[in-house]
Amino acid sequence: MAVPVFSPPSAFTVYVFVVLGLILSQAVFCNGGLTSNFVRKVENSVDMPLESDVFSLPPGRNAPQQVHITQGDHEGRAVIVSWVTMEDPGSNEVIYWKDKSEDKKSAQGSVSKYKYHDYTSGFIHHCTIKSLEHDTKYYYQVGIGQNPRTFWFMTPPKVGPDVPYTFGVIGDLGQTYDSNTTLTHYERNPVKGQAVLFVGDLSYADNYPNHDNTRWDSWARFVERSTAYQPWIWTTGNHEIDFAPEIGETHPFKPFKHRYQTPYKASNSTEPFWYSIKRGPAYIIVLSSYSAYGKYTPQHQWLEEELPKVNRSETPWLIVLVHSPWYNSYNYHYMEGETMRVMFEPWLVQHKVDIVFSGHVHAYERSKRVSNIGYNIINGKCNPVEDKSAPIYITIGDGGNIEGLATNMTEPQPDYSAFREASFGHAILDIKNRTHAFYSWHRNQDGYAVTADSVWVCNRFWHPVVESTGGRA
Ligand SMILES: *[C@@H]1O[C@H](CO)[C@@H](O)[C@H](O)[C@H]1NC(C)=O
Ligand SMILES: *[C@@H]1O[C@H](CO)[C@@H](O)[C@H](O)[C@H]1NC(C)=O
Ligand SMILES: *[C@@H]1O[C@H](CO)[C@@H](O)[C@H](O)[C@H]1NC(C)=O
Ligand SMILES: *[C@@H]1O[C@H](CO)[C@@H](O)[C@H](O)[C@H]1NC(C)=O
Ligand SMILES: *[C@@H]1O[C@H](CO)[C@@H](O)[C@H](O)[C@H]1NC(C)=O
Ligand SMILES: [Fe+2]
Repeated sequence: MAVPVFSPPSAFTVYVFVVLGLILSQAVFCNGGLTSNFVRKVENSVDMPLESDVFSLPPGRNAPQQVHITQGDHEGRAVIVSWVTMEDPGSNEVIYWKDKSEDKKSAQGSVSKYKYHDYTSGFIHHCTIKSLEHDTKYYYQVGIGQNPRTFWFMTPPKVGPDVPYTFGVIGDLGQTYDSNTTLTHYERNPVKGQAVLFVGDLSYADNYPNHDNTRWDSWARFVERSTAYQPWIWTTGNHEIDFAPEIGETHPFKPFKHRYQTPYKASNSTEPFWYSIKRGPAYIIVLSSYSAYGKYTPQHQWLEEELPKVNRSETPWLIVLVHSPWYNSYNYHYMEGETMRVMFEPWLVQHKVDIVFSGHVHAYERSKRVSNIGYNIINGKCNPVEDKSAPIYITIGDGGNIEGLATNMTEPQPDYSAFREASFGHAILDIKNRTHAFYSWHRNQDGYAVTADSVWVCNRFWHPVVESTGGRA
């Protein structure tokens, strides 16, 4: 018989009342355990047709499309620029220059194609531009010699404990009308995100016949309006696996690996799916739910060596991204993250990780600071307990993909769950200094400035007080 890992709620949960508003629920609570009563119109998520504006091709023969950037090194002084040309390979060159500077520099990338069943990709280019100055606006150009297109980005401030920095958090995005609403709300949020922590499941191409890879192309065109201008930090989800032996495709992650690069070598990782970066005041560790993580595996060994390297005097904020949540009280993907939790949770508590962001479940949930690491098969200590060294777990798989919302929740709400709601949205983590960050979740039905859930997060290393479990800004 399986041992139940989560128990029914015990005494410390204080159930509170919610004042129901028509547009938003005005939650007044101080000690957790809230299932939002927000009333949402029930609608299916519908894919945007391929002829939609968001998928339009850039003008001109062989013009570069699907432009996206990500961090290209460990410290934030390099950027990987990626794009696709359809008719011929064209140039691999990126020309880039500092704002207000005439001094143009050039870097050479590489190009590749791949086949997937009956699909052949365009020419996929990746080029890393290095030795950039911190906190500086750069313009860059791709499609050199044919129909060039110009974009820009800001480099992050030099890594350090008290540089403010603002991350957006998005997961499970897909390419429906809801996906577009989520991206629009992120873009128009008055608290401007400077980089996106993306927690996996990008295009959902694998939901189409034969994993129709043209949906990988259309997705990249859809998100270009953000990914060309700020780095998205990629986590792989199950929809990146694209393992389909029935159509002869047996190499997991094939399309993702060709299209999206990560700076994994800079953190001594051996695969692009788990790696770390420093960005401003934050140390981001990306894990792979769908790569081996048992003892003696490369990912296990890497994480064991990685966590002690984090210097909280340099990067106070330690954040983990992983697709499948370890704490999830929805009846979807229930306990799928459990085996990885058992392997890695003790290390995350020992190293005082501030926040773990996950996707996978198409809804929103935020936990209290709890751990569940006391169990040893015979002692019966298998319930999560409040733990001030533990991270907050946030599920934000509510980007708006075709599979729709996860609305079915386990009842009653477990003690460890501070807030949950089945609505599409995005989050912002606004790091102020080494002790404080303001975290907010924004549902798509609200105005751009409205926070539907928020908490002042206190840094586990510098200011390890237990936050009040929630409240509005
Ligand atoms: C997507 O959202 C943008 C606004 O950000 C809008 O201009 C565009 O028309 C939308 N496209 C679709 C297909 O909904
Ligand atoms: C990676 O390993 C090399 C050699 O062991 C070491 O010099 C370097 O500092 C490591 N880099 C990181 C980011 O840990
Ligand atoms: C940690 O970072 C601080 C600030 O950058 C630095 O002074 C210190 O030497 C670092 N500690 C270690 C062990 O590298
Ligand atoms: C919710 O999930 C539970 C557990 O899987 C299932 O027994 C129940 O029928 C579901 N409820 C609905 C309304 O789908
Ligand atoms: C850090 O930021 C918080 C929130 O803005 C503020 O209350 C606090 O005084 C700041 N700490 C320092 C040392 O500036
Ligand atoms: Fe998923």
